[in-house]
Amino acid sequence: MRYYISELKNYVGQKIELKGWAYQTRSSGKVKFMELRDGTGIVPCVFFKGECDDQALELFDKITQETTVKLIGTVRKHPKHENVFEMGAQSIELLAPSENYPISPKDHGTDFLMENRHLWLRSKRQHAIMRIRHEIIYAIRDFFDGRGFTLTDAPIFTPSACEGTTNLFETKYFDEKMYLSQSGQLYMEATAAAFGKVYCFGPTFRAEKSKTRRHLIEFWMVEPEVAFNDMYDNMELAEQFIEYIVQRVLKNRPDEFKALDRNTVKLEVIKGSFPRLHYKEAADLVKKENPEFNIGDDFGATDETIISSRFDKPVFVHHYPQAIKAFYMKEDPKEPGYAMGCDLLATEGYGEIIGGGQREESIGKLLTKIKEHKLDEKDFQWYLDLRRYGSFPHSGFGLGVERAVSWICGLPHVRETIPFPRLYGRSYP
Ligand code: 4AD
Ligand code: MG
Repeated sequence: MRYYISELKNYVGQKIELKGWAYQTRSSGKVKFMELRDGTGIVPCVFFKGECDDQALELFDKITQETTVKLIGTVRKHPKHENVFEMGAQSIELLAPSENYPISPKDHGTDFLMENRHLWLRSKRQHAIMRIRHEIIYAIRDFFDGRGFTLTDAPIFTPSACEGTTNLFETKYFDEKMYLSQSGQLYMEATAAAFGKVYCFGPTFRAEKSKTRRHLIEFWMVEPEVAFNDMYDNMELAEQFIEYIVQRVLKNRPDEFKALDRNTVKLEVIKGSFPRLHYKEAADLVKKENPEFNIGDDFGATDETIISSRFDKPVFVHHYPQAIKAFYMKEDPKEPGYAMGCDLLATEGYGEIIGGGQREESIGKLLTKIKEHKLDEKDFQWYLDLRRYGSFPHSGFGLGVERAVSWICGLPHVRETIPFPRLYGRSYP
């Protein structure tokens, strides 16, 4: 039988064995304390002369931060706090030493912590972030699985570009030139014709030579695609999806939010319908506060903040100028020059978390776009087949998981949202 700190409430009054690592130790007079962590939680362990054996008190002084230990003791309820437990230690065994653990409780610079990311993950704050990340991913899967979507994962090796050629990662596939996937969307369009409602969830690569607080080189994206949905249905789906994720994390991860000191009031309001702005309305808002912005351009990070700071809910911006969007976007027949794309900007200045829209279903228009974007028509024959054989209106979107984690946790930078981040200028450990 293995016991875990997260399940201590079931063993109050019982003598059990825990295995884990010493998070912190301190002595005050006759009493010695150790915070023991086992990955599922942290529990204070009290060593009283008389209650624990003499050998335990002797060994205690050899326990340094992150020493692996086996502890036998009795589970006790905290005298004042509900659901808080401690261990009255009886004996302890040192299973493996840990000398000069590099991450001490004092402050370290970010570079140092990133260099020691493999160890940094053991800290309370990183633990809370990873637990929330897991809950978000779990919620994402439940949302789609509970609504009749079929998971149809896309390949990572791809022969053609989806999101333009500027940030493609080139690699080799034996003797052929290949790319790492920028998005599974084009493949989801194929599976949407086969299964109606689909999604893929996988790693995505963008060779972006930029050091910003929201760009990763490798990130996880979830991409639903729905046959016969138009851009407006797409926004409704995205809005229900975001509400579901945020409300579920709020419900299931209160301790983690506390550990991060996250103001959850700002998340509680993320429900119901989100505001929707036409690009022109959004551009007018931006122009008022940023005179350097040219109407017709894509929004930069500060522009997105200008737009989203007007609202306490995430905001959709739709109908971007066709010229600044990907080749597959459907042009609105009622508004030539504008694409039926819709992005979702998060609250609190976190910027774009979702990009998506309605896809072009006319083969003629797609061929023109492929030429305009200087893409090779030959690579897209299979994609054009989707228009040759039973074309259908369809829409979808992509949510960047790490951007969502960053926003929901209220983090200053995306680098802490994934266990081992790949950033421009950092690929170790
Ligand atoms: O807006 P993007 O580029 O859209 C697509 O790739 C579409 N093909 C998705 C679709 O319709 N199926 O990327 C979607 C989302 C962004 O909104 C953002 O959250 C995230 O992916 N993202 C990044 N996250 C971290 N680092 C980067 N470099 C990112 N680039 C995009
Ligand atoms: Mg985008």
